[in-house]
Amino acid sequence: PRTIYLARHGETMYNKMGRIGGDSDLSDNGERFGEALAQYIKEQDIPKLRVWTSWLKRTIQTSKGIDAPQERWKALNEIDAGICEEMTYADIKQKFPVDFAARDQNKFSYRYPRGESYEDLVARLEPVIMELERQGNVLLIAHQAVIRCLLAYFLDKPSDKLPYIEVPLHTIIKLTPVAYGCRVEYIPIDV
Ligand code: G3H
Repeated sequence: PRTIYLARHGETMYNKMGRIGGDSDLSDNGERFGEALAQYIKEQDIPKLRVWTSWLKRTIQTSKGIDAPQERWKALNEIDAGICEEMTYADIKQKFPVDFAARDQNKFSYRYPRGESYEDLVARLEPVIMELERQGNVLLIAHQAVIRCLLAYFLDKPSDKLPYIEVPLHTIIKLTPVAYGCRVEYIPIDV
């Protein structure tokens, strides 16, 4: 049976500043996560592993040291926060208080002005999921909101819970198919 490994990119400069979105580089910690991830994958010796990343620098930089064929998917890019891109949550609350409250009311359906909702993201990810279902072992390096959508699909979580699924940084999430559904394991990687 095949295994799907999911991981967020390593920590970025924007993560450190609490800014969302953008196309930031990894921090030194994030670089170390990439190295530790490559080492972990090497030790597992996973047959015919393929690595999928988004088009953003942080996932490509995280995958740099992994010795396996790689593919880039634009559809794996992080949720587009539109007019709120590159802001902190404190900035958003201050500049767009009505939007900030609306998102809190219905986080799944709320669409950032000139950006996306989680609902949009689920639709964008459909072709990725279709292809993932046909593949063998894959390590997918993406982003928090994207991984929430993938976990909701594989673990059958309802859409109102989806935007709150925990996806910590520097943690490998291992999905193994079982009789009905998937077994999930969280493997923290110390950096
Ligand atoms: O940049 C966006 C985050 O990864 C998603 O976080 O949907 O909880 O605001 P949020």
